[in-house]
Amino acid sequence: MTDTLTLRTPDDWHLHLRDGDMLRAVAPETARHFARAIIMPNLVPPVVTGADAAAYRDRIMAALPEGTGFTPLMTLYLTENTDPDDLARAYGDGLITAVKLYPAGATTNSASGVADFDKVRPVLERMAEIGCPLCVHGEVVDSDVDIFDREAVFIERVLDPIRRATPGLRVVMEHITTEQGVEYAQAGGDDLGATITTHHLVINRNHILAGGIKPHYYCLPVAKREEHRLALRRAATSGDPTFFLGTDSAPHTDANKLLPCGCAGCFTATNTMSILAHVFEEDGALDKLEAFASVNGPNFYGLPVNEGQMTLTKGDVVVYPDKIDTPDGPVTVFDPGFALHWRVAR
Ligand code: DOR
Ligand code: ZN
Repeated sequence: MTDTLTLRTPDDWHLHLRDGDMLRAVAPETARHFARAIIMPNLVPPVVTGADAAAYRDRIMAALPEGTGFTPLMTLYLTENTDPDDLARAYGDGLITAVKLYPAGATTNSASGVADFDKVRPVLERMAEIGCPLCVHGEVVDSDVDIFDREAVFIERVLDPIRRATPGLRVVMEHITTEQGVEYAQAGGDDLGATITTHHLVINRNHILAGGIKPHYYCLPVAKREEHRLALRRAATSGDPTFFLGTDSAPHTDANKLLPCGCAGCFTATNTMSILAHVFEEDGALDKLEAFASVNGPNFYGLPVNEGQMTLTKGDVVVYPDKIDTPDGPVTVFDPGFALHWRVAR
């Protein structure tokens, strides 16, 4: 039986760090295990210019504990007013690694996102020219589209037309949750990648809704049927270079999760690597964890893989804190619903 696993230090290709007190409270949770992370720009107000990204990066660096080797990879929030020159300068200077597309109204702090995709066509063309990847929150927001169908409909109505109209645009389908997402990503060629979260490998929609509503399992895109979770498991554990880890770890205080209209987001930064080792072992794919968490992401982004290593060991139950305390109030750590035996040793 394998009880030690060594892999290159992992990266998180989709992370919410927030700002201020929350940033200071949650940043160490990611920096403890990950070398780099793609930082989501959905602050209030959002990170829309190169200057915003530089200032946010400085705030993140200031929030990290002394001596942390963590590198935040910054993104811009695409709006209908994004200036292609500012974007190209920020990308050329190495200040940003990608640009994030939120359909307006799709999720937390997405009000400034894109409603009319024709308006961002010139920016997308410029991105294709300079090789800047587009990270996509792939859900339509039309009220007549069922929330469980929003990803599949987005692929058909929005993503595929954008990709056909913009050859060479490199796209990351963020946090895919469906079999349709897996199949579209697999068929997309070298310019298309897809991230998968830790929690979507573990929960399906029953976990949210059966036997009482569980606000801490509510996120967007919402978890789907079991057959979709299994498709995500097959994709993540396959070693296919298309798929890589983006936790979408998204902290909200318990007070904001437990409202009559609670926030979307699962906070998995603290225990992600233990959960992933459990999942990959269960699927007989421990040897593929490194590809998913440490290799496929940098390869897609054209960045070097990390030189450092992480060792996980299997033993007695590992107890993680139920909550992270923040000055804004506690943030609940994602509960996978099973005991964790894999511990990050170093
Ligand atoms: O569950 C989510 N939470 N999905 C998102 O797309 C945004 C995120 C957040 O910012 O809280
Ligand atoms: Zn996200």
